[in-house]
Amino acid sequence: MPSKKAATKKSNKPKKNAAIDTLLTENRLFKPAAAFTKQANAKKEIYARAKKNPVKFWESMASELVWKKKWSKGLKWKAPDAEWFVGGKLNVTESCLDRHIKEGRKNKAALIWEGEPGDKRTLTYFDLYRQVNKFANVLKKLGVKKGDRVALYLPMIPELMIACLACARIGAVHSVVFGGFSPESLRDRINDLKAKILVTADGGYRRGQIIPLKHDADVAIAECPSIEHVVIVKRGDFLLRIKEGRDHWYHRLMQEADNYCAPTYMDSEDLLFILYTSGTTGKPKGIMHSCGGYLTGVYATTKLVFDLKEDDLFWCTADIGWVTGHSYLVYGPTACGATQVMFEGAPDWPDKDRLWQIVEDYGVNIFYTAPTAIRAFMKWGESWPGQHDLTSLRLLGTVGEPINPEAWIWYHKVIGGKKCPIVDTWWQTETGNILITPLPGITATKPGSATHTFPGVEAKILDDDGNEVKEGGGYLALTKPWPAMLKGIWGDRKRFIDAYWSKWPGIYFPGDGAKIDKGKYFWILGRVDDVINTAGHRLSTMEVESALVEHPSVVEAAVVGIPHDLKGEALAAFVTLGGGKEFNDKTISILKDFVARKIGAIAKPDRIINAPELPKTRSGKIMRRLLRDIAIGKLLGDTTTLADPDVLSKIKKEYEED
Ligand code: PRX
Repeated sequence: MPSKKAATKKSNKPKKNAAIDTLLTENRLFKPAAAFTKQANAKKEIYARAKKNPVKFWESMASELVWKKKWSKGLKWKAPDAEWFVGGKLNVTESCLDRHIKEGRKNKAALIWEGEPGDKRTLTYFDLYRQVNKFANVLKKLGVKKGDRVALYLPMIPELMIACLACARIGAVHSVVFGGFSPESLRDRINDLKAKILVTADGGYRRGQIIPLKHDADVAIAECPSIEHVVIVKRGDFLLRIKEGRDHWYHRLMQEADNYCAPTYMDSEDLLFILYTSGTTGKPKGIMHSCGGYLTGVYATTKLVFDLKEDDLFWCTADIGWVTGHSYLVYGPTACGATQVMFEGAPDWPDKDRLWQIVEDYGVNIFYTAPTAIRAFMKWGESWPGQHDLTSLRLLGTVGEPINPEAWIWYHKVIGGKKCPIVDTWWQTETGNILITPLPGITATKPGSATHTFPGVEAKILDDDGNEVKEGGGYLALTKPWPAMLKGIWGDRKRFIDAYWSKWPGIYFPGDGAKIDKGKYFWILGRVDDVINTAGHRLSTMEVESALVEHPSVVEAAVVGIPHDLKGEALAAFVTLGGGKEFNDKTISILKDFVARKIGAIAKPDRIINAPELPKTRSGKIMRRLLRDIAIGKLLGDTTTLADPDVLSKIKKEYEED
């Protein structure tokens, strides 16, 4: 219960600190219920134990997994390279599947899946084990070897999880490309990976529409010379073209495959997967994750943050195309032997209570979603969840962006019935697992704060010079290695060092601003680089700009984030047209569609604004900061470095007319 009532205050004076101003103070405190504490997986002593010897703490978590050969040293650390569980050998699927078959979970449901049209499937751990083994044999037969890259472009169907685990079984590196990405995004990722195989589906469903995945994949791979075979899962009865010799139906190959595939043992540090994420420069970054460290991180956090119990039904609503789906759907829950829900559709199709219907139908206990979804639920109103029995819920989680305290309170009251602890979990594609989070049953939570570091993790707020900010705002910094940390950027060592390890020596810079309060609670303030967090997904402004300038009418573009009620941030694009081209409503819709086609619908700008010229410094750098000020109607900041101050008034005029 809150110890102080409704105390979100705007302090009169912003607390000016090294890097970031902090304006809001949120004082409500929710203490854990004694009954929850009593049964929680995590006990208070864990913090002191992990602090005393973090490596030993992580080793104790790793030893709960299946290893073929035990490691000789917990950690070898020479920044920016960490080797975790040195010399250890394992195959992650033995922890996620084989051991459950042997330890009494053979007939336990691993996945309760529901498709968008309402079709249902339940896969037991044995079903999953069998399918993974068979598909591993299929991949082997198609020539996939340890270390080869396999691209996965699938809807949220069990075969996506099966394909990930099948790659892991044979030591192949999977790279999932979100099914909402465009053919061009898929093409660029496959070419960067030099993937041999693409696994896709004939199509998928989204709000009653059919997404022509195989058709899009065909467009992509027309320009992907590395692809030797395409495997197609039959999701519906969708039209498609088959290229003899290259394209194969999944179900046919599975019929012929052997039941068992011996696991390929991997070094703890060998690659498990590559997942692309946006960075500050144009090209998406292929973030690399290892086997031993990554699995240890996601296993430990799933068990302790979500307090998973044998009989719980866990539901992480994220798509496997994002890191949340990798860590808290494919790997973490299966490593814990959990039963989980997997859902193909959208939360508002056919109606705005689809998720609550699923919670009621299956009796979901733990529910993990994003603030952008929570804000949408709030907007749709309480009557939708109000029609359903949500009493099975016992723990709620959020991830992806800062949650506004009001959304947190709404989630707590309306979805959690005031009885569920909320874990606001901060992490990134690069960090692999949750790093800042409450531990349910231990941490008193404050709405909007991700609270404290997970045991064994160390974070600080630093200023530009690397001085610690003990109270107030600055940059978030991770000052000790953790097992699931990224191993690098695929094919780009320099960028890995520049992006994460060059701000302060030996310290990881996630690119987020944050503040720390008197009570040592962390408050994440958002990105400090040119990355926009829209609907919980990171998009690089550069990437969208590159897409825009590919259009023949655009000579220059600058993209900034603007506040948005539901998405958190939306995109506003300032464009300069070339050759006397006229800017009108048609231009706006053409450019919006063009970006959606180039990158995917998630990157579609909300606003396109005519900028006859862009504001630049004398050295020619676009001053996005000023464009952001115009876009949010703020008084213009410092304009003294601007080469031509008149430019701004012209854009402002265009913007106001828009
Ligand atoms: O800015 C932070 C925000 O999302 C970024 C990571 O994005 P991505 O790699 O796509 O992974 C999203 C899912 C893990 C972070 O740098 N972010 C993530 N979780 C939170 C958050 N911001 C505030 N609070 C969170 N709980």
